[in-house]
Amino acid sequence: MKLHDLVFEPYINEDEINKAIDKISNLLNNDYKNETPVFLSVLNGSFMFSSEIMKKFNSDCSIQFVKLSSYEGTSSSGEVQELIGLNETLAGKNVVILEDIVDTGNTLKKLDRILKEKNVKSYKIASLFLKPAVYKGTIPIDYIGIEIPDEFIVGYGLDYDDLGRNLTSVYRLKS
Ligand code: IMP
Ligand code: MG
Repeated sequence: MKLHDLVFEPYINEDEINKAIDKISNLLNNDYKNETPVFLSVLNGSFMFSSEIMKKFNSDCSIQFVKLSSYEGTSSSGEVQELIGLNETLAGKNVVILEDIVDTGNTLKKLDRILKEKNVKSYKIASLFLKPAVYKGTIPIDYIGIEIPDEFIVGYGLDYDDLGRNLTSVYRLKS
């Protein structure tokens, strides 16, 4: 499969992705059943994951969006830009950050700063994918779907220069 100039190969199928989402959903349903959480979806990559988590959450909840960007091509630029900020109030809320993937952790560091300024009551992080070998942060990731080695992946919301987000399974860069 080709996106722009690069070739990708099948890596994680729909079944594995669904199982990982179910695992996270079950934990969230249990931990937040009396809390009316605010799901904070980090655009663009987490839109598909966020939609599934919302659909599978069994009690009251709401959703907000923030748009952050750090990736250029297939690697992190190290700098996180806030493209669409948070307007609505989050003070006193129990927030669950929904991320597509945690890589270097720069995005989480930025979010941590943003949320502390907003005086949230609590926040936790759910990420569909994590690259443990790359993550340099100290912020704990509370709900992890699938851990992967340091590979560049696309699909299920994740892109290579804007392409590949529509794929329902995950592909990795062919070496
Ligand atoms: P971090 O700030 O380095 O942790 O990177 C977080 C963001 O970079 C993620 O939310 C993704 O949008 C993007 N990203 C990181 N790794 C990948 C990848 O393998 N494929 C596509 N996007 C990625
Ligand atoms: Mg992202």
